[in-house]
Amino acid sequence: MKVLLSQHHRSYYSQKSPAFLGLFLLLLPVFSPDLFSPLGRTYPSLFSEWNAPKPKHLRLLQGALQWKTPFRQQLELWSPLPHQGWKPCADPKYTFSLPEKSQGYIQVFLDGGLNQQRMGVCDAVAVAKILNATLVVPHLEVNPVWQDSSSFAEIFDVDHFINSLRNEVSIIKELPAEYSWSTREYYGTGIRETRIKTAPVHASVDWYLENVLPMLQRYGIAAIAPFSHRLAFDNLPKSIQRLRCKVNFESLVFVPYIRALGGTLVRRLRHSGDISGRSTGKYVVLHLRFDKDMAAHSACDFGGGRAEKLALAKYRQVIWQGRVMKTQFTDEELRYQGRCPLTPEEIGLLLAALGFSNNTRLYLASHKVYGGEARISTLRKLFPRMEDKRSLTTAEERANVEGKSSLLAAVDYLVSMESDIFISASPGNMHNAILGHRAYRNLNTIRPHLALLGQLFLNKSMDWPEFQSAIVAAHKNRQGQTRVRKEKQSIYTYPVPDCMCRT
Ligand SMILES: *[C@@H]1O[C@H](CO)[C@@H](O)[C@H](O)[C@H]1NC(C)=O
Ligand SMILES: *[C@@H]1O[C@H](CO)[C@@H](O)[C@H](O)[C@H]1NC(C)=O
Ligand SMILES: *[C@@H]1O[C@H](CO)[C@@H](O)[C@H](O)[C@H]1NC(C)=O
Repeated sequence: MKVLLSQHHRSYYSQKSPAFLGLFLLLLPVFSPDLFSPLGRTYPSLFSEWNAPKPKHLRLLQGALQWKTPFRQQLELWSPLPHQGWKPCADPKYTFSLPEKSQGYIQVFLDGGLNQQRMGVCDAVAVAKILNATLVVPHLEVNPVWQDSSSFAEIFDVDHFINSLRNEVSIIKELPAEYSWSTREYYGTGIRETRIKTAPVHASVDWYLENVLPMLQRYGIAAIAPFSHRLAFDNLPKSIQRLRCKVNFESLVFVPYIRALGGTLVRRLRHSGDISGRSTGKYVVLHLRFDKDMAAHSACDFGGGRAEKLALAKYRQVIWQGRVMKTQFTDEELRYQGRCPLTPEEIGLLLAALGFSNNTRLYLASHKVYGGEARISTLRKLFPRMEDKRSLTTAEERANVEGKSSLLAAVDYLVSMESDIFISASPGNMHNAILGHRAYRNLNTIRPHLALLGQLFLNKSMDWPEFQSAIVAAHKNRQGQTRVRKEKQSIYTYPVPDCMCRT
């Protein structure tokens, strides 16, 4: 369990180990009760449990509120990325044909949140191709934390998905009648010969050929669950990598009404005038995952005092039986190592230091902020023109997505993709998915230097000008510059070079 837990915390905070990102969702009982066991479980209730968090960095805050970024610096900040020598490639050399004969049916059951499931879908198409099998449209599991039961077809445009891949992989919406017994319920109620339960993390092509192909040939069907992160990123044929890229960046589009809602949000962000009556048309998206689960797991101190500390410790006890490795470090040690998610106040200071002025349109892509408005009030003070789904739409416009975390995440995904600048307060699946997709389109994403920020925030004698110039210097090369994928990293986070060609 030790090893698993250490992967768990790496998964939130270490950008250097994307191989493990999201893995915890599979490995920890709380996020992954055995795939098919009942999901009901008690969570500590969210009663009020903090003294309203106060700003922790008052001195910097004062500086930030008075700071006026030079015009030139603002201009640079907002200018689109120059061309960096890569473009999405659709090399005809790698287009496929369908196999003459299908080897059988592949079914996958995907857990995690929307963005983890998205990667699972791409990998499932690739596995079907490797095996010359027919893929059944993936089944999305209900996540115990986020509780959204939306199906694939309620989130993604399923006809576009099938059509855009029709020359590469056959995909069907439902199994033919003779296999209709192969359902989630069937696998949930006993040990079944057609289920693959032990696919290793990042399995190779050979593993699939040796272990899944014989099952297909014998039974005509194989159900793989769990399936997230079950296909390697290295040593795969180029053609298979290209196919995964195509699925992620071209074949997966959201259903029309999500696209419409996303479009409405983008229009309103771009076209409403600012306070001075002129419209700059540009906006930043801040992805802020700051829910209780993450706050508790990070084991950092977020300024809510003793009551909050106790509440988070209690949550750790209930959910992880207290086995959260990071609690062996002090808050100071964790911050020094850059292992604490930025609080809304801290991300606000970062944005101000980078040069965003107080009339910046800031869209908050966020599910739920632990601590509510009290926690984000400092950020709002720095950026009074902060918006979110609620502030920009009416309840009727949101009716179809309200309370459905995957659909809300899909809307945020679209608004994030359209933004001039994207920044995330902590690494995670959403951050990685958008980072990769924006890299594919050569769009600017700011990557906070968490270790440096942790150190600067610990130093109470630091004043605003020093903080500001240290931030600017440290982020010069963290604003959308192309990064080539390294071994073990995900092609969905780093699409160069697997998904892109030199121009
Ligand atoms: C899949 O089909 C291709 C050609 O259509 C063939 O070369 C390959 O060996 C087949 N693989 C499997 C696992 O059937
Ligand atoms: C933005 O900051 C300036 C000072 O730099 C201040 O005069 C102005 O009132 C602020 N605007 C808002 C909306 O807070
Ligand atoms: C804190 O910042 C001040 C001013 O920049 C600097 O002189 C000092 O060395 C820093 N202290 C630590 C512990 O880094």
